[in-house]
Amino acid sequence: MPYYRRVGEVPRKRHIQFRKPDGGLYAEELMGEEGFSSDSSLLYHVNLPTAILKSEGVDLPAHSAGASPNHPLMPRHFKPHDLTTGGDPVLGRRLLMANDDVRVSYVAADSDGELYRNSAGDECVYVESGTARLESTYGALDVGPGDYVIVPTGTIHRFVRAGTDLLRLMVFEASGHIRPPRRYLSQYGQFLEHAPYSERDLRTPDEPLVLEGEDVPVLVRHRGGLSRLTYRHHPLDVVGWDGHLYPYAFNIDDFEPIVKRTHAPPPVHQTFEGPNFVICSFCPRPLDFHGDAIPIPYNHHNVDSDEMMFYVGGDYSARKGSGIDVGSISLHPSGFTHGPAPGAVEGVIEAVRKGHTETTEMAVMVDTFRPLNIGSQASSVEVGDYAWTWAR
Ligand SMILES: [Fe+2]
Repeated sequence: MPYYRRVGEVPRKRHIQFRKPDGGLYAEELMGEEGFSSDSSLLYHVNLPTAILKSEGVDLPAHSAGASPNHPLMPRHFKPHDLTTGGDPVLGRRLLMANDDVRVSYVAADSDGELYRNSAGDECVYVESGTARLESTYGALDVGPGDYVIVPTGTIHRFVRAGTDLLRLMVFEASGHIRPPRRYLSQYGQFLEHAPYSERDLRTPDEPLVLEGEDVPVLVRHRGGLSRLTYRHHPLDVVGWDGHLYPYAFNIDDFEPIVKRTHAPPPVHQTFEGPNFVICSFCPRPLDFHGDAIPIPYNHHNVDSDEMMFYVGGDYSARKGSGIDVGSISLHPSGFTHGPAPGAVEGVIEAVRKGHTETTEMAVMVDTFRPLNIGSQASSVEVGDYAWTWAR
């Protein structure tokens, strides 16, 4: 993360004796990326963060495993709201699509998560609806609809639901780190003035969460699968931490859209970047305002990308008549040129002529630079005739 944070108690210098009221030492832990060569934080635990009692293999649930190539190749439309609901925010994830860089899942959780650590990469959890408290070694962070929650690799955490509503999450599990786009940051990591959001828009844990307990299980996702490690002491026993690495939330409503007189391409909507993929936010904004503008996308073929779009709010005029609605997911793969639904261009030009000046569309998009395979859960809620809707 671009900026330094300090929460709770930390000693005056790094790596010096830091003692508890009873005279014993707190246990210092470095959480750092890229082998001591990138962002890190130092956390101070009441007990040793290394003391484990056992490790057991855990089978990946069937709804979280397996994805097949998009073959025969076609654009697709899925309705994740039609998936069965229930489960917790981790083991309840239904795999929608995946490649070696990112796995995209959807879960409508009806129970709290157990403690969980993803050691294979960062997670970006988009909260579609419901509220929860993210509890982690860094403290607690309240999250709700429209939040992107970035959880760094290795962070032990859990989502505790704040109410009885289903907690609907779209989860992007990266094979590396998810960060703000490099081009929006200064040489030293401060958000630049042309960035669509800034440090003030990010929410972070601001109080330590010192929990007690013994024999505490933690589910760990690692390159080899899932394991459950039992810790001698509760791992959320941190009295203070400081550094540049921590979980944070950014709400899609805080994204400041970048607009042009004529249609701007999706990079203006980019919100995060991960290994071989980007995450973009399409937010309500003025329509393109050149007198002769066509204020929806032109037909396009990003020859290196598969594009998955999750429609989370408003009215998406470019897809009018295609069956896509709020709650839909479209997948437009490389190898297929996609664009507005038939009649959508004429429709929006006419709407502008009648005084329409804004779009209310809201969508979360991931563009990957390698093809996305399709999970059986997605296939089970596919709307079969989408591919042919442009030919109607
Ligand atoms: Fe597109």
